[in-house]
Amino acid sequence: MKRNILIHPDPRLKKVCAPVADITDELRSLADDMLETMYDAPGIGLAAPQIGVLDRLIVVDCVKEEGESPRPLIMFNPEIIASSDETNVYEEGCLSIPEQYAEVTRPKVVDVAWLDRDGNAQQETFDGLWATCVQHEIDHLNGKLFIDYLKPLKRQMITRKMQKLKRERARA
Ligand code: NI
Repeated sequence: MKRNILIHPDPRLKKVCAPVADITDELRSLADDMLETMYDAPGIGLAAPQIGVLDRLIVVDCVKEEGESPRPLIMFNPEIIASSDETNVYEEGCLSIPEQYAEVTRPKVVDVAWLDRDGNAQQETFDGLWATCVQHEIDHLNGKLFIDYLKPLKRQMITRKMQKLKRERARA
């Protein structure tokens, strides 16, 4: 089932999410809904707070090449256990901040540990776009948005645009 994506500013997007204690069928179905919502948007990552659920859960799939098989990842309690000194700059966007993009600098390579859909511990090294995406989504679990990396003026400008967008959508 497709879920509704919250648009910034929203207090739920500023909260620190709680770790998932055990992976229930309800949480599995939530994760499946998040993947469906992400692919439909379309996007390459989605965090539970973006659909109003304050649990530490993200989904990502950064496969973009046509013809390449999708690689949906469901990550409960994802944690960055190591990051490279080398950085990367990507123009980031966010499904909660539609049509706004800005360059963000982050570590280029990260080691991430998480629990998968079946509750098994996983660990993997991510590089490039995958690394940026996973870091962006984990930030969401700590109430942090990519615009928080920007200069205050730019951040305020984007926030005002989103407030306007929300007013327009509410009227529609
Ligand atoms: Ni985002």
